[in-house]
Amino acid sequence: MKGIILAAGEGTRLYPLTKTISKQLLPIYNKPMFFYPLQTLINAGIKDILIIISPKHAGDFLHLLGSGKDFGAKLTYEIQDRSDGLAQAFIIGESFIGQDNVAMILGDNIFEDNFALAVKNFKKGGHIFAKEVTDPERFGVVRFDSQGMATKIVEKPKKFLSNFAITGMYIFDNRVVEVAKKLKPSARGELEVTDLQNWYLKNGELKVDLVKGEWIDAGTFDALLKAGNWVKNQIEK
Ligand code: TTP
Repeated sequence: MKGIILAAGEGTRLYPLTKTISKQLLPIYNKPMFFYPLQTLINAGIKDILIIISPKHAGDFLHLLGSGKDFGAKLTYEIQDRSDGLAQAFIIGESFIGQDNVAMILGDNIFEDNFALAVKNFKKGGHIFAKEVTDPERFGVVRFDSQGMATKIVEKPKKFLSNFAITGMYIFDNRVVEVAKKLKPSARGELEVTDLQNWYLKNGELKVDLVKGEWIDAGTFDALLKAGNWVKNQIEK
C-alpha cells in the first residue's frame, strides 16, 4: 500500500494566515499541522509516501521534511499546479502509485484513530471513514440505510442528507487511477473525491466505517483552535 498526503490547496478560509504560509505548515500547538497526517500514515504502516504540494510552498515542505529519513518514511514530492480538486491526486500520483493500492489522507486532517488494521485487511474496492458531526454541509456526506449500509454520497449537500461527514482518509485499490482520469470537473470546477467514492459505491465495492476517536478538519479558524487545544490536552493527559 502506497500513501499520498494532499497538501496543496488555497486555504482561503484561513486568510490572512495562509497568505504567505501553507495551511498545512501552520502550528497545531507544538508541531506543524502536516506532522499529524504524516504520523497517521506511518502509524498505519505506510512508509512510502507521496506529498502533493503547491509550487508556492514546495521549498518549505522540502526544508521541513527532507527525504523523510528522520520520520522513518520515504518521501516523494509532486507539484499540483492548480487547485483542481482532491481526485486529481490520483492522476498526479499515477507513476508513484504504479500497480499498488493507495491510501490518501488530507494534509489538514487530524485523526486520533489508528488505521493499521484497515490497511492490513484491505484487499479490493474502496474503504472510507465517516464521523457524525454537527456541521455536515462543510464536507462530503454519506447516508446509511437501516442496516448501516452506505446508500448515497453527496459533496457539501445544500439539502440535509445526514450528519455523517466523510473524513479525509481514503483507501482505494489501483483502479482509482483510471477512474480519476475519466472524471469530469464538477460544477465548482474540481475533480471530486466523492465522485470516486460514488463509482465504488455503485459497484457495491465501497466500505464505510465510522472513526471512533477525535477527527478534526483544521481548515477553519475554530477548527484550528480546537485542534491545538485537543493536542495540548492529549499531551497533558
Ligand atoms: P479544502 O480545505 O477543501 O480546500 P483548501 O485547502 O484550498 O482551503 P479553502 O477551502 O479554505 O480555500 O482542501 C482539503 C485538503 O485538500 C487541504 O489539505 C488542501 C488539499 N487540496 C489540495 O491539495 N488540492 C486541491 O486541489 C484541493 C481542492 C485541496
